[in-house]
Amino acid sequence: MIALIGFTGAGKSTLGKLLARNYGLPCYDNDEIVAKNMKMSISEIFTAYGEVRFRELEAASIARILHQSPLGVLVTGGGAPLLPETRQLLASKAFTVHVYTPLADILHRLEFDSTRPLLQGGIQERLTKLYDEREHLYDFAHTMADGTNMRLAEVQVMAKWMTH
Ligand code: S3P
Repeated sequence: MIALIGFTGAGKSTLGKLLARNYGLPCYDNDEIVAKNMKMSISEIFTAYGEVRFRELEAASIARILHQSPLGVLVTGGGAPLLPETRQLLASKAFTVHVYTPLADILHRLEFDSTRPLLQGGIQERLTKLYDEREHLYDFAHTMADGTNMRLAEVQVMAKWMTH
């Protein structure tokens, strides 16, 4: 399994879908799966149950996918590696790729985003603070891909996956 990790807005979902389409791999977008299982949007889950419960649901879903599906692309939410157990699983059961995009690009991309619960109320400040807090969160990845250039990122992931 190729697992994509990285900051919110880094391009993980876009890259996951591209890899799935161009290489015929199944794509498991964890946020989409959690939302579908709960029959609620991610925002609704945060509002109804809070972040801690969301993290549990997120972690359980990642663990399930990694145990059941050996081949494909797993797209994880930006906060998924906050749990040490999830970091451990991603490091041992997947080829983990940090999709890296500089903060300036992310600020530009998410300027008008209204779907991400952690960014509500002062998007610039919240993104900047989170980016700072999570500076080293993705360091455990096996490799990196350039989230500002999806064509390049695709080649980077496949080339590194095939030779690792
Ligand atoms: C989160 C990122 C989101 C989603 C949730 C929490 C985070 O996914 O899982 O809103 O903590 O950074 P994206 O990385 O796709 O934005």
